[in-house]
Amino acid sequence: MPEWVRLQLDIDEFDDHAFEPYLRRARASGIDFATMAELGDTPDHRRALYDLNKTCSADIPDRGEFYTYEEYLAQRIDAPTFNPGGVVLALHGNEWIGMSATSLHPDRGLAFSEMTGVLGPYRGQGLSLAMKLLAIRFVRLSGYRWLGTLHHPGNASAIAMNRRLGFVDQAAGTVA
Ligand SMILES: CC(C)(COP(=O)(O)OP(=O)(O)OC[C@H]1O[C@@H](n2cnc3c(N)ncnc32)[C@H](O)[C@@H]1OP(=O)(O)O)[C@@H](O)C(=O)NCCC(=O)NCCS
Repeated sequence: MPEWVRLQLDIDEFDDHAFEPYLRRARASGIDFATMAELGDTPDHRRALYDLNKTCSADIPDRGEFYTYEEYLAQRIDAPTFNPGGVVLALHGNEWIGMSATSLHPDRGLAFSEMTGVLGPYRGQGLSLAMKLLAIRFVRLSGYRWLGTLHHPGNASAIAMNRRLGFVDQAAGTVA
């Protein structure tokens, strides 16, 4: 197994203003954003989240077989760290085209960026940055300073996207 890339963002140092144009541009082009808490944590929405996550995860290097729906429910949604307010969705009409899911870990005093994904036809338009801006606001409002994430070293786009936001390599022994 290759060495994972562990990144962390200091929310106190994050400059929201630098990334607001991505949100504005996306909205101007007809993309809406909502959390799963706002849309409703319903069985249909859980299934839609699973489908979107599964499709996007197919592009993660060496991801292997994705969870079955039952496994996803058990491991990702019916988990104490799941928070529907931390699931940011990008919507084009009725279609869910992007997600950024963040979990909260009070025991470790940090938040964790579980999965950010955008459907293929919508990539390269700044949607991941727009969703992450909303995710970072969720983390801040939840009272956390540190947001961590973990990537396969071959996942160049995801690593570049997080570095663009200001994530840096996690030094050994630090928070995330
Ligand atoms: C990673 C991913 C979410 C990026 O989404 P996106 O909406 O296309 O990304 P954006 O357009 O917001 O780009 C944001 C930044 O990421 C970087 N980036 C995005 N795509 C890139 C690519 N193919 N190669 C290199 N850098 C890339 C750039 O730095 C870009 O900023 P810039 O345009 O100012 O240079 C998307 O490629 C994806 O869904 N991948 C599959 C799922 C995945 O691997 N998720 C991460 C694991 S949790």
